[in-house]
Amino acid sequence: METLRIGVIGLGRLGRIHTTNLIQHVPEAKVKTLADPRVDETKKWAERLGDFKITANWQDVLEDPEIDAVVIASPTTLHGEMLKAAVKAKKHVFMEKPLAHNLETARELYKNLKDTGVKIQIAFNRRFDHNFRKVKDFIDSGELGEIHLIRTTSRDPHLPDIEFVKKSGGIFFDFMIHEFDTARFLTGSEVVEVYAGGSVLLDPRIGEAGDFDTAYAILKMENGAICAIDVSRKTTYGYDQRVEVFGSKGCARAENDRATNVIVSTEAAVCSDKPLYYFPQRYMQSFANEIRAFVESVLEDKDVSAGVEAGYYSILVARAADISAKENRSVKIAELI
Ligand SMILES: NC(=O)c1ccc[n+]([C@@H]2O[C@H](COP(=O)([O-])OP(=O)(O)OC[C@H]3O[C@@H](n4cnc5c(N)ncnc54)[C@H](O)[C@@H]3O)[C@@H](O)[C@H]2O)c1
Repeated sequence: METLRIGVIGLGRLGRIHTTNLIQHVPEAKVKTLADPRVDETKKWAERLGDFKITANWQDVLEDPEIDAVVIASPTTLHGEMLKAAVKAKKHVFMEKPLAHNLETARELYKNLKDTGVKIQIAFNRRFDHNFRKVKDFIDSGELGEIHLIRTTSRDPHLPDIEFVKKSGGIFFDFMIHEFDTARFLTGSEVVEVYAGGSVLLDPRIGEAGDFDTAYAILKMENGAICAIDVSRKTTYGYDQRVEVFGSKGCARAENDRATNVIVSTEAAVCSDKPLYYFPQRYMQSFANEIRAFVESVLEDKDVSAGVEAGYYSILVARAADISAKENRSVKIAELI
């Protein structure tokens, strides 16, 4: 196979990013079909990008023998059903995080989707980000020694729509899931224990929906490393994405990316640009890298960086964090397996 023929399911924020990246940055891919119930909006958006079959019915993509792979970027509650159906139809799958909106669905997928004969990549894009990648390279080179502490911060620039919050699965499943995967990715170790908590400080409607808008988690890894995570649904200064890894021989820290690296010093203050505004700006390169890696993994039969197992283990941690926050106790992952 020289060209991977792709259908995209869900043409919202992420589906559009992945489609655009496939068209503009992955010449070995050919996007054939776009499936979204919002057909007119999708048609209007896709006009400038090329000629596609556009359908309201995602099953059309799976029934098309001329499609080799699907990108699933639908709302999280549909992931489980769509992933199962895509694998049954023998399509390779690139699917947005999280694997599922609850542990039960994730466990079922993990048990049933081993040795499927198709590639399944879960979109943990930070594994493909230049900053996180460089930190990982320092860890792997041994220059930091044994890893003892990791600190990650993730804060969004504005509150999500309340309807999104209600369907998101909660802050640990929808949002902190990236940090859980980052902890596993950077340490190369599994989480064994979680202590987490949250508050509603930004919007009472988020509390009424049973969720938090501000949260933290402390993870203990199998190799003894400790990971401290904090997240917020709203900053006043852009998208705050930082990580620090402290080891026995040194420390590596990734700061926020900014539009320029100019620092202006005056009598009043020393100033720089604010962090890039949000994920479409900050992580655009990582989105292109991850979808290119997926296409290569299929065409060159290489392993994916994060598959169903990574999706499942991060959900185990999310569930543990959810229980910990609600019951105010630490939760061992072994309780959930
Ligand atoms: N990796 C990241 O940084 C990141 C960032 C944001 C969102 N996400 C994930 O991406 C996924 C999509 O999020 P989003 O922000 O793009 O949401 P969105 O609401 O912008 O887009 C979802 C799209 O799916 C469509 N859809 C709904 N039902 C469908 C169906 N039955 N068949 C086909 N399409 C259907 C909707 O019409 C909409 O266009 C979520 O799982 C979310 O967690 C990942």
